[in-house]
Amino acid sequence: MSIDFKNRVAIVTGAGGGLGRAHALALAARGAKVVVNDLGGARDGSVGAPSGAAQAVAAEIRAAGGQAIANGASVTDYEAVQAMVRQAVDAWGRVDILVNNAGILRDKSFAKMDLDDFRLVLEVHLMGAVNCTKAAWPHMTEQRYGRIVMTTSSSGLYGNFGQANYGAAKMALVGLMQTLSIEGAKHDIRVNCLAPTAATRMTEGLMPEAVLQALKPEAVVPAMLVLASSDAPNRTILCAGAGTFEAAHVTLTGGVWMGTDAGVPEQLVARLAEVTARAGEMVPQSGAAQGANEVGKARAGHAST
Ligand SMILES: NC(=O)c1ccc[n+]([C@@H]2O[C@H](COP(=O)([O-])OP(=O)(O)OC[C@H]3O[C@@H](n4cnc5c(N)ncnc54)[C@H](O)[C@@H]3O)[C@@H](O)[C@H]2O)c1
Repeated sequence: MSIDFKNRVAIVTGAGGGLGRAHALALAARGAKVVVNDLGGARDGSVGAPSGAAQAVAAEIRAAGGQAIANGASVTDYEAVQAMVRQAVDAWGRVDILVNNAGILRDKSFAKMDLDDFRLVLEVHLMGAVNCTKAAWPHMTEQRYGRIVMTTSSSGLYGNFGQANYGAAKMALVGLMQTLSIEGAKHDIRVNCLAPTAATRMTEGLMPEAVLQALKPEAVVPAMLVLASSDAPNRTILCAGAGTFEAAHVTLTGGVWMGTDAGVPEQLVARLAEVTARAGEMVPQSGAAQGANEVGKARAGHAST
């Protein structure tokens, strides 16, 4: 079954380069009319002039026979974002797809991290996605159709040294998605998360050159296309990179009943490994502290960048 975006209108934020550019080009290549948003010159999350990079991507789409508008709103500026959504609706009558992709990094260990940088990263990733979603939501509700992609990260899902601000913002987007996917369902608004891994400006210097070569943004795009399509799932966290696709899940271990007696804290510490064990996981029979430690180590093994 081919994925087609004919008569669909998409907004991709942060689409002047990296993953956003690849998303915008791919949506347009399959027929979508695309608002290519990026604040361009300013890379610090401040309000920027209309973006040369966004204009170049829009021009690339038009040169290939597609339809595109460049937009320079900062996703942190709600009024500018509302104007961006109006721009799409005025030009093309609707907004079907929103890919919340814009982002910045301000990496430092938490001890050295400035709170202003923490707030800025939350502002761009979390509030940026909230602003764009809030502006598009009434249109999607009214037309009873919407596909929203939140860009999360393994740094949020599993943690990554030096990215407390970024990880918190990216996991917050999962929380946002969990509730919006419930609230949007009755209007056929489907909300999902994409957790990409790609070599872009954002990852410069973070990975060896040979690895970067394998991680083309285009290898992430198929996951975005599925989440933006009419057959999209709802409420999934799809991970994509280097041609591999996986899903992340927020899960719960089996409950262990201990009642409400005063001795429950001691019981709980003694049985912590049992309480925290996932289905199929080996539970040590003795030595609670050692058991909990083993489970902790096993989990740490799942952490990635
Ligand atoms: N590259 C990866 O491996 C990776 C991994 C996990 C998540 N992500 C996420 O994917 C998304 C795209 O990242 P990328 O790797 O392509 O990085 P990138 O730096 O190439 O692209 C981000 C774009 O967002 C734009 N932007 C920044 N602040 C903005 C604002 N306030 N308003 C509008 N645009 C703004 C930038 O100008 C830039 O063009 C980000 O949300 C990032 O956190 C990337």
